[in-house]
Amino acid sequence: MTEQRIPAEFYSLPYFDSFKIPRYLNFKRKQEQLSWEEIITYVNLNLDYPFYEMIREISNPDNLTVLVNKYNRLPMNYIPQDLESIHPDFNSGEFKLRQEARVAFEKMGRAAGQDGIMIQAISTFRSFDYQEEVYFRKKSPEISMEEYRKERDRVSARPGHSEHQTGLAVDINDLEQSFEQTPAGKWLAANSYHFGYILRYPKGKEYITGYDYEPWHFRYLGPKLATEIHKLRITFDEYYIRYLSQIL
Ligand code: DAL
Ligand code: ZN
Repeated sequence: MTEQRIPAEFYSLPYFDSFKIPRYLNFKRKQEQLSWEEIITYVNLNLDYPFYEMIREISNPDNLTVLVNKYNRLPMNYIPQDLESIHPDFNSGEFKLRQEARVAFEKMGRAAGQDGIMIQAISTFRSFDYQEEVYFRKKSPEISMEEYRKERDRVSARPGHSEHQTGLAVDINDLEQSFEQTPAGKWLAANSYHFGYILRYPKGKEYITGYDYEPWHFRYLGPKLATEIHKLRITFDEYYIRYLSQIL
């Protein structure tokens, strides 16, 4: 096998990190089919390590563009200070979002309503402790922790790693993959970015996000970023590395 070299033009990418050169080369050796842009992006995300290895604690949890994933953990005691109840018309319970996300969600709900579509929040902010309960909800003594994690990790975040703890994520209407085919699922996939929301766990991107497709889970990022991400058809994880990691 010939040793790959990183082509010179990639050294000038704003997110190229010269300390990571050995990891870039190593990852390219294992994943030859990936482009150098992908290699650099994925290594910067720590995707050359298994999920939940190489975890860093997030220092800017209040930032509206915070990246929470299997390598980036929120402080255990983090609770956003501007949580507000969503209007009952768009709320199936007592669910709350951070102020800006709440206002945008209601705006989206009204716009959907005008198109004859009903959207309702079915899960929003979840504290660390509540996420722990959610994550372990299906655990029984007969099943080993290793086995449990293997299955559960695909659909539920370990405590500290859920975007729901940011108060910027919302599950809408139905936690079934068939939601994709419903009028509401289709409407959201096509229109949510106008209101600042992106579909956070797209189909076919499981190897980046670490989660199965979730057509119901939307993340608030503001209309400008949400529009860019929607148009680029990339995950927020990738967008964060390429466009945000150097300026935060
Ligand atoms: N279901 C999403 C990934 C969560 O648990 O945050
Ligand atoms: Zn969710």
